Amino acid sequence: MAEKPATTTQTGTPVASDAHSLTVGANGITALHDRYLVEKLASFNRERVPERNPHAKGAGAFGEFEVTEDVSQYTRAAVFQPGAKSETLIRFSSVAGEQGSPDTWRDVRGFSLRFYTTEGNLDIVGNNTPTFFLRDAIKFPDFIHSQKRLGDSGLRDADMQWDFWTLSPESAHQVTYIMGDRGLSRSWRHMNGYGSHTYQWFNAEGERFWVKYHFLSQQGVERMDAAEAERIAGEDADYYRRDLFEAISRGDYPSWDVYVQIMPYEDAKTYRFNPFDLTKTWSKKDYPRIKVGTFTLNRNPQNFFAEIEQAAFSPGNQVPGTGISPDKMLMARVFSYNDAQRHRIGANFNQLPVNQPHAAKVHNYMHEGQMQYHFNPAEHRVYTPNSFGAEGGPEADPQAGVEASWESDGELVRSAYTLHAEDDDFGQPGTLIREVMDDEQRARLVDTLVGQYSNLTLDRIKERFLWYWGQIDQGTADAVRARVGA
Ligand code: HEM
Repeated sequence: MAEKPATTTQTGTPVASDAHSLTVGANGITALHDRYLVEKLASFNRERVPERNPHAKGAGAFGEFEVTEDVSQYTRAAVFQPGAKSETLIRFSSVAGEQGSPDTWRDVRGFSLRFYTTEGNLDIVGNNTPTFFLRDAIKFPDFIHSQKRLGDSGLRDADMQWDFWTLSPESAHQVTYIMGDRGLSRSWRHMNGYGSHTYQWFNAEGERFWVKYHFLSQQGVERMDAAEAERIAGEDADYYRRDLFEAISRGDYPSWDVYVQIMPYEDAKTYRFNPFDLTKTWSKKDYPRIKVGTFTLNRNPQNFFAEIEQAAFSPGNQVPGTGISPDKMLMARVFSYNDAQRHRIGANFNQLPVNQPHAAKVHNYMHEGQMQYHFNPAEHRVYTPNSFGAEGGPEADPQAGVEASWESDGELVRSAYTLHAEDDDFGQPGTLIREVMDDEQRARLVDTLVGQYSNLTLDRIKERFLWYWGQIDQGTADAVRARVGA
């Protein structure tokens, strides 16, 4: 066995002991100038960074994405050109629970995907559902508060969850998903992922398309039985995290096929649903899925904290050929994530190995701040414009940095989206129950709702719960009402 290196201080000086602090005599007082003891305790006191506010509990892995089809007619992005291969990072998570919470509590699962592309990092920060609870970002903090804990007792509370949901009818589609089988996956490997929002793609000629990402599990989509989930929550809070790590360790690499739905740019104006409303899906009959490629997870993190806890995904991380859309949730997320990460990790979070681009270089005039690691060459100026030519530093290039765009003009207002022909809050979730779910799935949904109802204590919320489900699907509401004797 190789000889062990000597333990050192953080500045590389060998230390005498990791077992005994410096004291005045064997039984005496501790010397404050035991710099190694002080350094070790100070480091320990600073080990935790704030957990992510939503999506605190999760885990992830690295892998590779390969484009197997030709979608170059829709996007010029290098990462999606035929045959392209890119390193990927994924992080799966639950939404509401904190760091130590059980993986198998019913919840939406986060599905954050990063492609380290030659044009910079592309992040698709999605979920295992194609929709969301809200369509306007200004409600997001209220929504998360209602799913977290009460101010006084610090307890989670069914009344406040259902109070918020039933007072926010736009939540109906997503709530139907999570009360159904997607709320309890067998594992992270056995679920599909979705970008959920509408994004934009544009090709080399500048032609624009609206796009939705779908990541279909090659392991299949499997649910977990509610009673089993409850048992596992007690026995092994880290069940999903363990499953992913162990599968990759034994070489059982999970894969997902990447598909997109493509909507021609002009269709957005007249499609029967507002295509930028995140509570809606696009019918696969109207816009069938088109395959792009496959990604496989084949490498566990070497260090959970450095590579997963400090991973900083952002829906704003787009590349030439991809972009966001006029979805009000998505536009706000472009601000929110990096702001959270400046607070959670620090000003230079993008310089950490997991966050810096792996296949592209960073050149700009931003510098300094806490924990700066990278710096520009001395001859590189600290400002632009400058007159020092190529040595003076980089120059922005509208051709290289070509961005998504759409026309937008109007009065500044605070308003709901304009409605399209079939827009309403309860239509799509009703269709999901009546036309997508089978009898067994509908029966499980009723079981779950009976359980949820039994956790409610306030009559007005119980009544609104039954009203809400009656709006989505009367048969479901009637079945719940009969079981709970309301
Ligand atoms: C306007 C609405 C939203 C806001 C303001 C918001 C904000 C946030 C914030 C601040 C974080 C923590 C980021 C960090 O500390 O690194 C987060 C995490 C996350 N959010 Fe959102 N979010 C919103 C909507 C959504 C939607 C619609 C989705 C899915 C389609 C989503 C999926 C996620 C995921 C998967 C994570 C975990 C990221 C990771 O794995 O590191 N969020 N969100």
